[in-house]
Amino acid sequence: MATKLWEKNFEVNAEIERFTVGRDRELDIYLARYDVLGSMAHIKMLQSIGLMEKDELDALLAELRNIYRDCTEGRFVIEDGVEDVHSQVELLLTRRLGDMGKKIHSGRSRNDQVLVDLKLFIRHELREIADGVMTLFGELQEKSERFKDVLMPGYTHLQIAMPSSFGLWFGAYAESLADDMLFLQAAYRMANRNPLGSAAGYGSSFPLDREMTTRLLGFSSMDYNVVYAQMGRGKTERNVAFAMASVAGTLAKMAFDACLFNCQNFSFIRLPKECTTGSSIMPHKKNPDVFELIRAKCNKLQALPEQITLIMNNLPVGYFRDLQIIKEVFLPAFGELKDCLRMAAYIISKMEVNRNILDNPMYDPMFSVEEVNRLAAAGMPFRDAYRKVGMEIENGTYRADRNICHTHEGSMGNLCNDRIAELMKSVYDGFGFSRAEEAEKELLK
Ligand code: ARG
Repeated sequence: MATKLWEKNFEVNAEIERFTVGRDRELDIYLARYDVLGSMAHIKMLQSIGLMEKDELDALLAELRNIYRDCTEGRFVIEDGVEDVHSQVELLLTRRLGDMGKKIHSGRSRNDQVLVDLKLFIRHELREIADGVMTLFGELQEKSERFKDVLMPGYTHLQIAMPSSFGLWFGAYAESLADDMLFLQAAYRMANRNPLGSAAGYGSSFPLDREMTTRLLGFSSMDYNVVYAQMGRGKTERNVAFAMASVAGTLAKMAFDACLFNCQNFSFIRLPKECTTGSSIMPHKKNPDVFELIRAKCNKLQALPEQITLIMNNLPVGYFRDLQIIKEVFLPAFGELKDCLRMAAYIISKMEVNRNILDNPMYDPMFSVEEVNRLAAAGMPFRDAYRKVGMEIENGTYRADRNICHTHEGSMGNLCNDRIAELMKSVYDGFGFSRAEEAEKELLK
């Protein structure tokens, strides 16, 4: 029996088959449960427009629910000789239910199937990433509040510059995540549109009810124009990758700071020894490998939008097999980012800070601007005050006054963490995750 959906009266060369299937048998496993959901919505719609009998629909839905369970419990496989997830699901239905299994493909193409699978997958994964971002955000804000009075040096050019605080340092990365969340939300909203019904990219002569599949799958609306729906392949992945890269950028930068501040020459932060790794030759070593790996993995993730862009660059309108290759870089990226988010939240929660950094007189000059400002506030022109303090530093008579008072919004005395938290919450609430979740639950009933 032919296991290719398109096989007719000749056999395809084995080498051609190997090369064109590529890694689909392994990668389509990521999409399997979403392929099943898409098929459930599609056949309910086919029955509603008279292309399937009610008893056929019920039998197919029951079998699709079994396949869905196999997917979520890790039993679903794509057999040797079967091209992809779409073929495997149809094959299972046909094996178990006979000819009615072959009916599920009316009014559909693998092109809109893979589109809908990707969009449902993205919706699910972006929610998990948003949740991971929220957890890390919470840890950072907690640390920011807890250590808001602990001063540390601030740097420019990696030269000691002005007083900063752990409240500012932790809080800065929390606020960065609030901005990243905006990109995640935009990517989610663009992905949350129904491409089903676009078929190969040019629609169908069946009177497909696209409103119905949009509602059943809990999409916020549809990709209306069938040609545009197909153009969304690659564009959607790139937009999502861009949002993930934004989060990854925040994590990579924070990881580098943590490595630097953990170095003995800085000693600003400390990791409990069970969160470090040792050396095979140097018995004293306690290395911050977790942050180093977060840095490298997140730097790699920042290449993802570029990789996708280059794979799909300059393709004209319509489907091309090139798009299949995007799955190789795109699908595994979610697990990697989620892992980095989880580890970052964990290690931040364990991090200890050094409350006595400023005991070292090396840091005294960073209070010079405070001194200049005090003189200026008392009436001396700023330039004269600047010169006076500068001369004192040059001739060694400057004495640091550590009593500092920063009160404006966002400064160390007024972190505005509550307002940043409100901002974050309003973005998170704007995703509207519950609609998708409820629709999927309903479909599986
Ligand atoms: N494996 C294919 C992909 O990911 C599925 C779509 C196949 N469509 C086609 N016309 N060959 O793009």
